[in-house]
Amino acid sequence: MSNVKQTRLENFETLIQEAGGVAELARRCGYAKPAYLYQVRSQKPKPNGSVLQIGRRVAATLEKGMGKPAGWMDKKHRKPSSTATPTQPAASPANPVGLKIQAAGSDIRSVTLAVTGASGFPYALRLLECLLAAGKTVYLLCSSAAREVALLESGITLPENPQELQSILSERFQAASGRLFVFGEQEWRAPIASGTAAADAMIICPASMGTVAALAHGISDNLIERAADVCIKEKRPMIVVPRETPLSAIHLENMLKLAQNGCTILPAAPAFYHKPQSLADMVDFLCARILDQLRIPHTLINKWGS
Ligand SMILES: Cc1cc2nc3c(=O)[nH]c(=O)nc-3n(C[C@H](O)[C@H](O)[C@H](O)COP(=O)(O)O)c2cc1C
Repeated sequence: MSNVKQTRLENFETLIQEAGGVAELARRCGYAKPAYLYQVRSQKPKPNGSVLQIGRRVAATLEKGMGKPAGWMDKKHRKPSSTATPTQPAASPANPVGLKIQAAGSDIRSVTLAVTGASGFPYALRLLECLLAAGKTVYLLCSSAAREVALLESGITLPENPQELQSILSERFQAASGRLFVFGEQEWRAPIASGTAAADAMIICPASMGTVAALAHGISDNLIERAADVCIKEKRPMIVVPRETPLSAIHLENMLKLAQNGCTILPAAPAFYHKPQSLADMVDFLCARILDQLRIPHTLINKWGS
């Protein structure tokens, strides 16, 4: 491979790091789907045996999308220092918050991510991407109401069949084999239904008031409720991201009960002090707060004061 092609591939990796993942890089550079960039990264051979490479046109698109000067992709750059702290990422005009996922530093190796039918599906999708990018094993559960909300809010059809959903999402986020498992609502034999094999932590994001009520009363009518019940009884970290407004006394009492039982109630309440420039920035703010709770390092946004 010519030197410039090798250099472009190295710089491509740097941009993936800066963007916080291939999907985010694709989004920032205006690609409707990240598939092409994933293929370049995996160096998949084409049917004629040649390997996908980064041509000048694609290089220019990446430079523009990430706010780099023309020709940046063709030059060697010094690698970012490995001693840089996750809270002080390099910012760039296209990435003012220095968005980047880092893999090391948390005791949490596996997470159950339950997505229920409250508004806020984009949070769940981004969180899944972040957890996989951080090398965590994810057990994903979606309620049927969540599938409806996903279609309405993000135009994404989530198939009811767990295997189908698993393969679509594994492909979308290029999850390594054995990293993403999707279970159906009634799959009582799933490992997360038992305290002996529960994940290290659980996140319910977004959490509907219906699911919050079920958890507060120990109802285990579906796998989301059962996995949460297990997590609470086993005293594992449990983060509930409720979304409703206004909140009735019933909602508040249920959330109080969960908080008294060790759950972290982390409302889906975006902030403005980090000066979000886009909806994606607002989504990242919430995902950053959730990852912080599990001490999963990230640089989705700068910490206050850094
Ligand atoms: C588009 C849409 C948005 C909804 N938003 C909320 C919400 O923000 N909070 C909430 O508690 N319920 C919301 N709901 C209602 C829940 O989906 C409904 O109560 C459902 O039974 C929850 O089931 P689940 O907890 O099994 O997902 C919404 C429903 C739809 C279709």
